[in-house]
Amino acid sequence: MVVAPLITLNNGKKCPQLGLGTWLSEPGEVQKAVKHAIETGYRHIDCAMLYGNEKEIGEAIREKIADGTVKREELFIVTKLWNTFHEREKVVPTCKKSLENFGLDYLDLYLIHWPVAQKIKGEFNIKLPFKDAVGIDYDYVETWKGMEECVDLGIAKSIGLSNFNSKQLERVLQNARIKPVMNQVEVSSNLNQKKLIQFCKARGVQITAYSPFGSPARPWAKPGDPVLRLDDPKLVKIGQKYNKTASQVILRYLIQLGTIPIPKSSNPQRIEQNIDVFDFELSEEDMKIVDSFNCNGRAVHAEELKGLPHYPFEGVEF
Ligand SMILES: NC(=O)c1ccc[n+]([C@@H]2O[C@H](COP(=O)([O-])OP(=O)(O)OC[C@H]3O[C@@H](n4cnc5c(N)ncnc54)[C@H](OP(=O)(O)O)[C@@H]3O)[C@@H](O)[C@H]2O)c1
Ligand SMILES: *[C@@H]1O[C@H](CO)[C@@H](O)[C@H](O)[C@H]1NC(C)=O
Repeated sequence: MVVAPLITLNNGKKCPQLGLGTWLSEPGEVQKAVKHAIETGYRHIDCAMLYGNEKEIGEAIREKIADGTVKREELFIVTKLWNTFHEREKVVPTCKKSLENFGLDYLDLYLIHWPVAQKIKGEFNIKLPFKDAVGIDYDYVETWKGMEECVDLGIAKSIGLSNFNSKQLERVLQNARIKPVMNQVEVSSNLNQKKLIQFCKARGVQITAYSPFGSPARPWAKPGDPVLRLDDPKLVKIGQKYNKTASQVILRYLIQLGTIPIPKSSNPQRIEQNIDVFDFELSEEDMKIVDSFNCNGRAVHAEELKGLPHYPFEGVEF
């Protein structure tokens, strides 16, 4: 069993420095993936209401607690507030809805999924989250007040952000009663985010690295997109030096950048492989080689949110 080291957050709570991603982990296979991950030593599970699988993940977690494999307090369960629930008064009820889905009584970390707020004309359909959705100009600082109420109520131990750019993060920090502990953003060898990492760290905010492998299964992938090749000869060669795979080299690189990667897998061998990255260290020279892959190669642009108020990836350097 491999257990990831713990990182101390700005509120004194601790977060395992690697987690399991669960986006596109289908109901049916996600239970198996989560149970196998917990048996392997994963203690940090990244979820979102949008992924539509909180119920199945909760079942797996509760089963592993009930059979004595792990205690609730050893786990770090993260989920995210979707764009259509940004109004301050909707935040607490939406957090409670996620807890009901999981069958848990608190979250370790609750994140605002995107700085962009939307409204649905009609019923919200989790399978088609952008159907009949329109952007609304709602201030995420107001949303943040709802997030703070979740901490007051004890239903979220920590709160944070996701997909916030440096300016947006700064605005939240300047208006927060309770500081965000985390900004979860895309970080991979193709998009190493050194500036944003430095900016967040200087303000005591940790970075979770999503899509560490460039999200190869993303449904919007198209020819001509930047590709992150796990069979790249340079990465494979570095791996051979340490008896590790190219994917392990990338995860180790992200850890040495100071981030918390959350690779998704629902394959038992790859789940095991992805956490087996705490028994070696990349040399400075090898870190530089992986640095050279940085090409602003973002995989998650959220095209549906482009042009809406507070879209994070335009008009700002990082
Ligand atoms: N906050 C946000 O807006 C946001 C956005 C995107 C993602 N996320 C989070 O970040 C997590 C990870 O990102 P992601 O799912 O986009 O993509 P990713 O982790 O970069 O890549 C996952 C894909 O790589 C494959 N894979 C996993 N381990 C591998 C290995 N060792 N060797 C080769 N292939 C491997 C997986 O297939 P198998 O399952 O078959 O192994 C899966 O298809 C998500 O699941 C989600 O929790 C958050
Ligand atoms: C290399 O890694 C594999 C897989 O983790 C392991 O089974 C093997 O013992 C390792 N070899 C050496 C020489 O450490």
